[in-house]
Amino acid sequence: MRCYWRLLVCTTLLTGPAVASPLDARESPSIQEIPLPALTLPAQQPNFNGFDLTSALPPASILSAVPVPLPASCSGYLGAPGTNSECLTTTGMSALSIQFEDCGTPFVVCRCADAQMSMDVALDRFSRVPVGLRRYASTIAVMATQTEANAFLKCTYAFQLTHAYDFSGTTSYASATSAWLDALSTDSCVPDAYSQTNAVEDFAQTGVLNVYMLIFGGNLPPGFQTACMSNQLAYVNSLPLFNTETLFGNTCDIVNSGPPARFAHYPGYKATHRQQLVASLSSFSPFRSYCPGLGTPMAGSIFSTFLLHLSILGISSVLAHLDHRTAVTESSSLGPQLTLQPQAPSFAFDLTNALPPASSSLTPLSSLPPACSDSVGPTNECTATMSATAITYEDCGDPFVVCRCADANMTMDTIVDRLGRVPVGLRRFVANVVVSSAPLSGSHAYTNLTTGDIHMFGDTTMDVWIHEVPPFDTTPSASQGWAEALQQDTCVPDNYSQTNRVEDFAQLSVIKIYALLHSGNLPPGFNSTCMQNQLTFMDGLSLYNATQLFGNTCAIRGKAGRSARHTKPPAVLDASRVFQTVPLDPTATAGAALMRSSGVSTTITAGGWLVATCVFILFWA
Ligand SMILES: *[C@@H]1O[C@H](CO)[C@@H](O)[C@H](O)[C@H]1NC(C)=O
Ligand SMILES: *[C@@H]1O[C@H](CO)[C@@H](O)[C@H](O)[C@H]1NC(C)=O
Ligand SMILES: *[C@@H]1O[C@H](CO)[C@@H](O)[C@H](O)[C@H]1NC(C)=O
Ligand SMILES: *[C@@H]1O[C@H](CO)[C@@H](O)[C@H](O)[C@H]1NC(C)=O
Ligand SMILES: *[C@@H]1O[C@H](CO)[C@@H](O)[C@H](O)[C@H]1NC(C)=O
Repeated sequence: MRCYWRLLVCTTLLTGPAVASPLDARESPSIQEIPLPALTLPAQQPNFNGFDLTSALPPASILSAVPVPLPASCSGYLGAPGTNSECLTTTGMSALSIQFEDCGTPFVVCRCADAQMSMDVALDRFSRVPVGLRRYASTIAVMATQTEANAFLKCTYAFQLTHAYDFSGTTSYASATSAWLDALSTDSCVPDAYSQTNAVEDFAQTGVLNVYMLIFGGNLPPGFQTACMSNQLAYVNSLPLFNTETLFGNTCDIVNSGPPARFAHYPGYKATHRQQLVASLSSFSPFRSYCPGLGTPMAGSIFSTFLLHLSILGISSVLAHLDHRTAVTESSSLGPQLTLQPQAPSFAFDLTNALPPASSSLTPLSSLPPACSDSVGPTNECTATMSATAITYEDCGDPFVVCRCADANMTMDTIVDRLGRVPVGLRRFVANVVVSSAPLSGSHAYTNLTTGDIHMFGDTTMDVWIHEVPPFDTTPSASQGWAEALQQDTCVPDNYSQTNRVEDFAQLSVIKIYALLHSGNLPPGFNSTCMQNQLTFMDGLSLYNATQLFGNTCAIRGKAGRSARHTKPPAVLDASRVFQTVPLDPTATAGAALMRSSGVSTTITAGGWLVATCVFILFWA
């Protein structure tokens, strides 16, 4: 029953009375009684908190935003104080008519004045919903929630819009077809606990996972497996809705065999609303950038996290930076977000010139190793052809394999140069290097911690290269010593370090290498005092023994090197290749853009964002 409320109210919010759906709660309150049984299939995961699609989805530009009188679909939610209304008449509600670049028909977005989500945030999130899904919405209402932040939220546009799509046929719903019910009776699991609610909610949740898979080269979010829900995925994926060309296309004018979009209800749509085609959105290039460990699971929340992980960090710049270096693991158990204050928003210094290059010889390989061929394909990291090259550096007898996608932003020369400058004591841990382009997102990278393969996209700077090369065997970031250092310190280097203890360790590693090269000086703008315990912990690791780290051979003895992948000494040891410090670059005064300590941690900020996406929560909670 409660679930019904949630479903019905959300559907109502998204569609409004414009569509005479038999499920419109306002018109047919008795609909709550429709018996939709709960599903008994086990859930794979408690929720969708472990992944985020925001930065993977490009926002659509807004061509115009014009205030309009409140449509009835919104004013219906206004009510006098003391009533059970979602928006009080004394507070008021405003409406904008929004014209996105990819659709000739404007959308109406209403916002109650006390909604925790600003209009800007609402529009940004809405604009990121793929146009093939967005076109099924008509009116969006943004309201405040009166319940405490943690209990709700996590209602997502894409999730709700999958419902909008589902209910867009007036008589047949995608989730009510016999094919969907067959899929449910054949499979042995559903995505998450919320999917167990009923066939309708499960359909919407599976739709979210399918969008994820389309974007991330067929991969499910970390922690999810295909096998036990393959029939559900196959059914959802077979729907015309999920044709990537139209779903992520540049126009809402999509003709397919699916149900009509809401817009089709507007007279004259076809003839009078010409779409503004935008070339840059016409081909959507999927890329991968998981953010495991990001995001604090919301206590009591059973809703899917889709776009709104964005809420964790606010929008735009932070996310662009997150894309920079994202470790990928099989699980998202990298620990909670850190609450220590960042010293700077990001790293603005460049280590390239401080690190000596290593000379090399290159041999083209006739075939791609699996780590590389697995990354090629029309919906994969590399959509062009890929070639593999073995690179033998002067300081190591074992070659490194670099696979470069033909359209990668970094040239082979750049890749060879940057990899060669990664200190040999770290470089020896790298397995394969897979380099692709970053057409829509900023440069970013991730490491598969299982294999040691690093994947680079766009033009990744030297600090990203260093960050992505973790010492695999001793897992210092999981040690008690590191946990204690984090407890004793009061800051971490930058915003990204807050992600979790693993990412913080990798960022500290970059700082440490800077300090070793610059006679103990930290990058401009950084102060060691508040992170002294972290730095001291690193001093104790043999990994950061400068003689070895910046030495002339990858054949380094000691247990820290047990799982190094490149350990054969070079044919000729260059005795002159020894560790040398470099003078501080006097021009690099703005190494770290200093940031005032606000006393507001990201987590707390998140609480602010994590509010009021959908009104239905009022009923749910
Ligand atoms: C970094 O985080 C702080 C809050 O800790 C925030 O105020 C700031 O905008 C963030 N900066 C960037 C560039 O992400
Ligand atoms: C890491 O590599 C292994 C082996 O190729 C693969 O099975 C796994 O899916 C990869 N993990 C991620 C998150 O890409
Ligand atoms: C990579 O190259 C593509 C075009 O080849 C370009 O659109 C994109 O902006 C470049 N990305 C970066 C990070 O330089
Ligand atoms: C670092 O911070 C400490 C404590 O706030 C302060 O005493 C010290 O002067 C700072 N050092 C530098 C180099 O700014
Ligand atoms: C660093 O490594 C070198 C070479 O293996 C060794 O001689 C030296 O003792 C090490 N230094 C420390 C502080 O362990």
